[in-house]
Amino acid sequence: MLVLGIETSCDETAVALYNSEKGLLAHRLYSQIAMHAEYGGVVPELAARDHIRKLVPLVRELLEDAKLVLSDLDGVAYTRGPGLAGALLVGASMGQALALGLGVPAIGVHHMEGHLLAPMLEDLRPEFPFLALLVSGGHTLLADVAGLGEYTILGESLDDAVGEAFDKTAKLLDLAYPGGPSVAKEAEHGQAGHFRFPRPMTDRPGLDFSFSGLKTFTLTTARDHENEDHQLTEQTRADIAYAFQDAATDTLVIKAMRAVSQTGRNELVVAGGVGANRSLRNKLADMAQQENIKVFFPRPEFCTDNGAMIAYVGCLRLMAGESDDIAVAVRPRWKISELQIPGAART
Ligand code: KG4
Ligand code: ZN
Repeated sequence: MLVLGIETSCDETAVALYNSEKGLLAHRLYSQIAMHAEYGGVVPELAARDHIRKLVPLVRELLEDAKLVLSDLDGVAYTRGPGLAGALLVGASMGQALALGLGVPAIGVHHMEGHLLAPMLEDLRPEFPFLALLVSGGHTLLADVAGLGEYTILGESLDDAVGEAFDKTAKLLDLAYPGGPSVAKEAEHGQAGHFRFPRPMTDRPGLDFSFSGLKTFTLTTARDHENEDHQLTEQTRADIAYAFQDAATDTLVIKAMRAVSQTGRNELVVAGGVGANRSLRNKLADMAQQENIKVFFPRPEFCTDNGAMIAYVGCLRLMAGESDDIAVAVRPRWKISELQIPGAART
């Protein structure tokens, strides 16, 4: 089965072709980062309009890359939610229209299920069941993954997502949007031991997270070290970025390892945009070796938003006999815990 995947939930227009026998055939992405950078964050209306401009040419290029034509498609998958309503509608309308025109099934995919299963796109891939640490701009959660659609949330953030904390830290340190990669880059120049930030909620049992206190601690530390002109020295800025990243990634690793010991699972996948963070990857790889478990990461470009994960999940669900009718609308708010095993009635 050949499936076209379309991702337009936020600020990347991304498409991919996944074949159930041959795997991923091609993928393309157009990032709107440059357009949103001058506003310091994603402007939803601009995002939607840009998806309209870019999606059709991107699908054409994708098909050319794979030397295929539209009539080769057996199904179309698009991100149904969660995400920005206007942006989602562009991908959903195009996906539904294409599928209708071609007479093939369409399926609306949950964006976070895409992230969750993205490590399956790699040669070295996990087997069900496994644990997942899902860390993106909107989510921070630990889930037990028993199979497709069988997700049990073990812990999640009670306030800010970790990606959001990275983005807010970047803003307060005057670093460029998007914040995560900027903080990581700045932290490379930081010195260990200059500042030590709290590892929130690690001193009590449980698998939930909270990052808003860490964000406030970062803000207070930055304010305390500004000069009369409200400026930080370059070194202090780098040291704060380092301390923030160190605390955020330590917190994720501590909770992930706690989930490993509570569940007895011996495979952990890390997914979502913050999964591209090198410090987090290194710490988890070290910890996995110590604890004798296997940790799987998608390649960095499949940690952040991409079309491949949508094509992949769409293909799995279509092959399991699931599809959406033409009337299905997007779901800007959609909890991953509401997902079901294919075949069960959809909500
Ligand atoms: O998964 P994603 O691309 O989009 C969402 O579904 O949210 O994740 C985006 C988030 C942003 O908060 C971004 O700052 C963060 O992932 N991010 C990173 C890195 N790359 C992206 N955070 C830390 N280090 C990175 N290298
Ligand atoms: Zn995402």
